[in-house]
Amino acid sequence: MNIPSPCFVLDEKKLIQNLQLIDHVQKSAGIEIILAFKGFAMWSTFPTVRKYVKGATASSLNEVKLCNEEMGVKSHTYCVAYTDDEFDEIAVKSSHITLNSLAQYQRFINRVPEGVSVGLRVNPEWSDVETDLYNPSSPVSRLGITSENLEELPDRVEGLHFHVLCESDSYALEHVLKSFESRFGHYLPKVKWVNMGGGHLMTRNGYDTDHLIKLLSDFRKRNNVDVILEPGSAFAWQTGDLHTSVLDIVENGGKKTAIFDGSFTCHMPDCLEMPYRPKLEKGSDVKVEGWHPYRLGGVSCLAGDFLDEYWFEKPLEIGDSIVFKDMIHYTMVKTSTFNGVKHPSIGIVKQDGSFELIRAFGYDDFKNRLS
Ligand SMILES: Cc1ncc(COP(=O)(O)O)c(C=O)c1O
Repeated sequence: MNIPSPCFVLDEKKLIQNLQLIDHVQKSAGIEIILAFKGFAMWSTFPTVRKYVKGATASSLNEVKLCNEEMGVKSHTYCVAYTDDEFDEIAVKSSHITLNSLAQYQRFINRVPEGVSVGLRVNPEWSDVETDLYNPSSPVSRLGITSENLEELPDRVEGLHFHVLCESDSYALEHVLKSFESRFGHYLPKVKWVNMGGGHLMTRNGYDTDHLIKLLSDFRKRNNVDVILEPGSAFAWQTGDLHTSVLDIVENGGKKTAIFDGSFTCHMPDCLEMPYRPKLEKGSDVKVEGWHPYRLGGVSCLAGDFLDEYWFEKPLEIGDSIVFKDMIHYTMVKTSTFNGVKHPSIGIVKQDGSFELIRAFGYDDFKNRLS
């Protein structure tokens, strides 16, 4: 396969396997599952995604437009704060609009057209997420209204939305539902739908999908509401890698760093933010006796753009390939051209095993983000 370097490479077969599992869950539980663009927005795959799911959730005007253009449907939209100049376009291009605060509701409700379903984001104040960066459930979080601050449901509200999980299992959702129902259960007879956000990693090996299906279908029947889930990661989980290659090997103070033609800060920011250590196709993220240790260093000039030792069976050489596993969700959507670093190309390994280069990036892409 003639894969350029660097390149995000999605495996179509794996994406379809994830889509089939997601479809199985939504049909068995009698709910709707939509794609969260913030986690995965590789729109060349949307014709395939649309065979299994009806739509997507958008968190900005740009994502709303992408949903309309490339999925051919209006989006479920939740923005942390809507702006005056964008609201009307968002409203006509959305089927659902969720507001993050009562002040935003007051400010924009008269501009929501008839037929668009209005929701409020609430905070169930329970989460299993240990990394604060990914945990919106704190009582002082800016994301969602706490039960303490919601004395009654405003007139036009037809739905409640919450999002407090991240790469979580169904047992965490069970806890969230207990907390949600104890805080907001008295509003459920008044609403048509509950959107349970993302963070449901149903495509991870070992996820108890039967438990999830029972939980969702019991909740739906008990409360007589439509249930929506909007995962991002679960769609693209383990569907592909970031292919890079070694440009130089630098040794200082007895430590060898393999510099590759990508960057953690530009292309894999979770590795620095979480911090998260990706697996490699060849090479180990934990020490193997007799193998050769290298730091992996990005090509940007940020001092911290590296991950500490990975181990390789043979000494690395210039031109060797380094493939970072599971680099499709929350990567392509977060990349930057900091330092003017070359943006990885985007390609797909099709079901028949052939490689299709979807897009390569160049100087214009860098220049057009600046002025
Ligand atoms: C409101 C909302 N919905 C859905 C998601 C998708 O979550 P995940 O990709 O973890 O499934 C997020 C992620 O941050 C979110 O903030």
